[in-house]
Amino acid sequence: MATGDTQKAKGLTGPSLVEEIGRYFKGDLIVKEDMSLHTTLRIGGPADIFAIPKDVLSLKYLLMYLSEKGIPVTIIGGGSNILISDHGIDGVVISSQSLTRVEIIERADTFSRLFVESGTPLQSLLNISKQEGLSGLEGLVGIPGSLGGAVKGNAGSFGIEIGDVIESIAVMDLKGNISIIEKEEAKFGYRSSGIPEGFVLSVIIRLKRDDPQEVSKRMSIHLEEKRERQPISLWSAGCVFKNPEGVSAGRLIDEAGCKGMRRGDIEVNEKHANFFINKGRGNASDFIALMDEVKARVFTSFGIELEPEIRILGKGC
Ligand code: EPU
Repeated sequence: MATGDTQKAKGLTGPSLVEEIGRYFKGDLIVKEDMSLHTTLRIGGPADIFAIPKDVLSLKYLLMYLSEKGIPVTIIGGGSNILISDHGIDGVVISSQSLTRVEIIERADTFSRLFVESGTPLQSLLNISKQEGLSGLEGLVGIPGSLGGAVKGNAGSFGIEIGDVIESIAVMDLKGNISIIEKEEAKFGYRSSGIPEGFVLSVIIRLKRDDPQEVSKRMSIHLEEKRERQPISLWSAGCVFKNPEGVSAGRLIDEAGCKGMRRGDIEVNEKHANFFINKGRGNASDFIALMDEVKARVFTSFGIELEPEIRILGKGC
C-alpha cells in the first residue's frame, strides 16, 4: 500500500471504522477504551479501538481488514505482563477474552489431552485440571492472565513452565492465515518462545492422570508459598525483570537497597522487590522511571544489567 493510502487508512476515525468493520464482525468494538481497565497494573491510556472478537471468523475478518488498510494492531490477553503507555495505543487493540472454549479431546489411562482457547484464564484451566485430576500445571497456581499470554511468554513458576505441557499451538498471522506450530518449533525458553508473530488461537495440552486430591494439595502448597513470598493481591504486572542466569532479580534489587523506593504512586514492593506496585494512581511514566532507577542501582552494586520481563506497549514507549 502506498504511504498516502496508509495515512488515509490511519486517518479513519474510530466510529466510522467501527461501522465498516461491524458489518462482518461479531463481538465488541469500543472506541477510545481506557486500557487501564484491561491490565492487572490498572495502568494505560486509551486504545483508538478495543476489539473483542466473539469467534475465530470475526477475528480473521478483522485482521484481514486491518492489514489491508495498514492499521496498526496490538494483541493482548489477560493484561497481566504488560505496561501500557499513559498516551495509549494507536490503532486497534484486539483481546482474546471471549475465546474461552476448553474441551477434553482424549482420555487415556495415564494422560488426557485438552483443546484450550487462548482467552481462557490460566486459573480456570488450573481449576479444570484440579477437578479432573490432571497433573502438570500445579506450579502455575496464582499466576494471573490468559492462556495465550502465558504460552507466548512461556510463563513459569516453581520449576515448571507452561511450555512443558504443550503439544501444539494454532496461530493466526496478522493477515488472517492459520498455521499449526508443533512444540519443537515453538522454541520455548526461559520466559520466551519463538511462536511467530500473530494471534495465538488455541493450544493442545497433555496432562498426566493423577488423584484429584493430590493435584489439589500441590496447588494449595504452591499458592501458600506464593502468598508468603509475593504480593499477589496487589496491583502489579508480576515480576518486572527477568532473572539473570543463576540469580534472582528480586534478590539483586533487594540487596541493592531498592525496597520501598517510590516514584509517584509506583513502589518497589517490600515483600518481593521484583514486583512494582501501583498504589492507586500510578502511571506508566513513573513506572518506567522507577525501572530505570532500579536498573541503575543494581548495575552500580553488582555490574549486572537487568532485562525487562514485562512487555512495554503503546505511544512513545
Ligand atoms: N529474594 C530476596 N529478596 C526479594 C525477593 C527474593 O532476597 O525481594 C530471595 C529469596 O529469599 C530467595 C531468592 O531470592 O532466596 C529467590 O526468590 P523467589 O523464590 O521468590 O524466586 P525468584 O527467582 O525471585 C522466580 C520467578 C517468579 C516465580 C518464582 C517462584 C522470575 C523473574 N521470577 O522468582 O515468577 O513465581 O521464581 O518460582 O523468573 C514472574 O515471572 O512474573 C514471576 C513472579
